[in-house]
Amino acid sequence: MKQFINVDDVPDLPQLIEKALNVKRTPFAFKEFGRNKTIGLVFFNPSLRTRLSSQKAAFNLGASTWVFNINQDSWKIEMDDGTVMENSQEHIKDAIAVMSLYCDILAVRTFPNLLERDYDYKELLFNKIKHYSKVPIVSLESAILHPLQSLADVMTIEELRPAKERIKIVLSWAPHVKALPHSVPNSFAQWASKLQGADLVITHPEGYALDERFSRGACIIHDQDEAFKGADFIYAKNWSSFIDYGKLLCHDMDWMISRKKMALTDRAKFMHCLPVRRNVVVEDAVLDGEEAVVLQQAENRVFAVQTVFMEILKNMV
Ligand code: CP
Repeated sequence: MKQFINVDDVPDLPQLIEKALNVKRTPFAFKEFGRNKTIGLVFFNPSLRTRLSSQKAAFNLGASTWVFNINQDSWKIEMDDGTVMENSQEHIKDAIAVMSLYCDILAVRTFPNLLERDYDYKELLFNKIKHYSKVPIVSLESAILHPLQSLADVMTIEELRPAKERIKIVLSWAPHVKALPHSVPNSFAQWASKLQGADLVITHPEGYALDERFSRGACIIHDQDEAFKGADFIYAKNWSSFIDYGKLLCHDMDWMISRKKMALTDRAKFMHCLPVRRNVVVEDAVLDGEEAVVLQQAENRVFAVQTVFMEILKNMV
């Protein structure tokens, strides 16, 4: 693997999941991969799981890490090209080039502005970073995709899938108080639709259709109760509108995931990437219930990113 930005960087998804599950069984058996290697972690926005799981994964591999929070630690960064830099101190071009001299893998998290769809969906910032880096790039989440979260999610589904010929996975929109990015639902739709023996259903209110590039192949149902019937996994996530870009269109709290909704499923597991707003997105009773597997998802973040680091580092050993 030369980089990890998109599911298309994965040559064989079932094999990658199997490798990640194997890493989970023996996480300390791969110290050679990270010997004398450094992984740089660059954040344009806050993180708990992504940051700590990446550091833990690097530790498991015997690699060093450094963490750089752009908004707190750096000179004032200029993102645009050709600017007369009277109000900014360091250009992204120079900052990324220099940081990439101090590591063997540059892992980066960016965020959408949720204002200009083209700017976000063309991944202009992430592509700049990729262009200026002198070492392989790993996405810790971009404006529109969160592939490490999705790898952990599909690992979790494979670990828990019931013994059925086909399983039903439902990605459900859920309410929220502010406009959120599309990265988790886009990536989840993309990765879950590639799982063998699985049917993906996406349920959301009118106006919340995801970009078809990611939802293609899924069955779209606007009636959440109907969508939940017979489900084996419920993946809840809020996202803002793609069509009316970045807007909050629906405030209907009936979309919150509740015990009553979960009772419609075939004893489905409840999934969410976290962080989650309790009693807005999902009721306490569900999140604290036996059906919730959110901690298993969070734990799998370590083995997902460890596997991705190994796949890139193995070309450097
Ligand atoms: N799920 C996830 O990416 O969490 P953080 O934003 O805390 O990293």
